[in-house]
Amino acid sequence: MSKLPIFPLTARVSNQGHLIVGGCDTVELATEFGTPLYIFDEFSLRSKCTEFREQFGRRYKNILIIYAAKAFINRALALILNEEGLGLDVVSGGELGIAQSVGFPLDRVYFHGNNKSAEEIRLALKWRVGRIVVDNFYELAMLDKMANEQGYIPDILLRLSPGVDPHTHKYIATGVVDSKFGFPLSSGEEAIAQAMSASNLNLVGLDFHLGSLIFDAEPYQQAIELIVNLAAEMKDKYGFELKELNVGGGFAIQYSLDSPAPPVSLYAEVITSKIVSKCRELKLILPRLIIEPGRAIVGQAGVALYKVGVVKDIPGIRCYVSVDGGMADNIRPALYGAKYEAVVANKLLEKEAGEVTIAGKFCESGDIIVKGINLPPVSAGDIIAIPSCGAYCLPLASNYNASLKPAVTLVKEGKVRLIRQRETFDDLTRCDLV
Ligand SMILES: Cc1ncc(COP(=O)(O)O)c(C=O)c1O
Repeated sequence: MSKLPIFPLTARVSNQGHLIVGGCDTVELATEFGTPLYIFDEFSLRSKCTEFREQFGRRYKNILIIYAAKAFINRALALILNEEGLGLDVVSGGELGIAQSVGFPLDRVYFHGNNKSAEEIRLALKWRVGRIVVDNFYELAMLDKMANEQGYIPDILLRLSPGVDPHTHKYIATGVVDSKFGFPLSSGEEAIAQAMSASNLNLVGLDFHLGSLIFDAEPYQQAIELIVNLAAEMKDKYGFELKELNVGGGFAIQYSLDSPAPPVSLYAEVITSKIVSKCRELKLILPRLIIEPGRAIVGQAGVALYKVGVVKDIPGIRCYVSVDGGMADNIRPALYGAKYEAVVANKLLEKEAGEVTIAGKFCESGDIIVKGINLPPVSAGDIIAIPSCGAYCLPLASNYNASLKPAVTLVKEGKVRLIRQRETFDDLTRCDLV
């Protein structure tokens, strides 16, 4: 079965058997820029933005799609997202600073975080970000006080943890009862009452985020049911108006051949129909809907390229194909057993020759990128391409073993643009004091 459908939308095979993405030969890109190399296909990226806009937009009028910057952000990407009319979900002063540095419209920025520092809140107030998503009582009080000092009343959402299980890995489930994120639903009334009575805050709505890589749309319905019920109760009791409802992100993408992800249209249908029916039932006006896809926008657009070095066959046990990257640029397999597909980018026309395990070069036995995969004969110098690497690889990258973080390129219609340089030895030592 072809693995191409998991790669970016522009992926194809050249006559030489090379992987082409965005009209560029990935083997040539690996030679030109070195490896590990991350390439992003601009067409795939923009197509996903369009798909979200269209699928949600045709079902619900008042909607804003905000991209979750934690999935991967840099300055070039922020510019593209702005051109696509998306907003931005940021969770730190750093992510906010990247957006501000390229003139991203900050009124379309939503500032999340379970432990925002006073400095971060000060910056968000100073730069007048669109919404501050308040996560807990400590933040609520601090924000009210700081808003008073700055003489500015921010629009806020309250993040509630609805206690819904999204059936994903526990490291990426966030909306369950036992979560560090958000007000537990049982404190929702107190949080809403407190936010409404805070003289320096303007409460415009509620927010939840269930987790990431959610293949089943049903948990969104459960959460909407709970949150909209609460909103209606709070309307009766305190006159609270749910003007905005943020249902978070979490939409899945396909990583392996045996786990296809639902189409965006399915999430759109399930989420919007539930909001409409629930608000109708409870006689609430339809709130503005916010969704926060991260992985689903950028995941498929990204491909990681590595060069093969050592091939070590332990007869009857395993054949390790070691590459020049690994857990320092993609921690996901080691962190929570994430599964990936892989191809030999310079041997796409060759037949599979047996099972190998693709290992990283870092000093942990757990640094395995793909365990047990059928590939053509692999030897030193071959280029391994891993699909679905656009999200949560680079942002989680480290300098483990004093490695240099990879270069990042953007490809489109046969042209390549370097959007992040490979780190240098000087970058590694710049902050060290002797
Ligand atoms: C609050 C919030 N919104 C959106 C996202 C994006 O999730 P995903 O990349 O799975 O769409 C996350 C990530 O976990 C998040 O914490």
